[in-house]
Amino acid sequence: MKFKIFETYEEASAYSAELLAEVIRTKRDAVLGLATGSSPEGMYKEIIRRYEAGDVDFSQVKSVNLDEYVGLTGDHDQSYRYFMDTHLFNHVNINKANTHVPQGVGQDLAALAKAYDELIENLGGIDVQVLGIGANGHIGFNEPEHELHLKTHVAELKPETIEANARFFESREDVPTKAVTMGIGAILSAKKIILIASGESKAEAVKALEDDFISTHVPATLLKLHADVTVVLDQEAASLLTK
Ligand code: F6R
Repeated sequence: MKFKIFETYEEASAYSAELLAEVIRTKRDAVLGLATGSSPEGMYKEIIRRYEAGDVDFSQVKSVNLDEYVGLTGDHDQSYRYFMDTHLFNHVNINKANTHVPQGVGQDLAALAKAYDELIENLGGIDVQVLGIGANGHIGFNEPEHELHLKTHVAELKPETIEANARFFESREDVPTKAVTMGIGAILSAKKIILIASGESKAEAVKALEDDFISTHVPATLLKLHADVTVVLDQEAASLLTK
């Protein structure tokens, strides 16, 4: 695990965008594993800038997102499909048909989840997975538990996650309590992983990435088993690191 620490979130975002752009330049039809939330927002802004400057071409790129709220359709302004369209896809030359976000609405979410794993497999796996991290150490919506799922599944959100995400909704009651999320298996199978964290609220979870343990109770620590993880941090998120 490599730690890259920057003074500001903007610098960290520019660095992450460059890592992502490099993957696409090396492989035009790269499969990007993407995250939503505030952590990668700056990176998306930066990569759009690079696209506009002609430095990166999305025409052959494919994407699979980590997660989606159960109960929200893609036209809901807090759905992760909507987030991706408005923060990235509408601004670059990606073919929307090549962008995939798990479905949070449907008769049989388990069958849809299974189909999502098959889709990832049929795409040949993920070339680079972008991750944020929850203050409780979650990645995707793989929340702290005794056991974690390898496959895409419906997850019950922890109260602290609902609390943290309430800032995007009118009230806490509006935050969905469940989400469909990629499992730990697809994440760890990605060829390369970029984890972005910013702000003091993430410092403790980030510290767990440095310490010498893995635990399903801090799901992000499982990333220590992966050979190519870059953790991109601003100073606040890195403030508890000791090495
Ligand atoms: C989002 C996701 C989540 C977030 C995490 C951090 O697709 O999978 O794991 O990355 O909750 O959220 P932010 O970046 O909003 O602090």
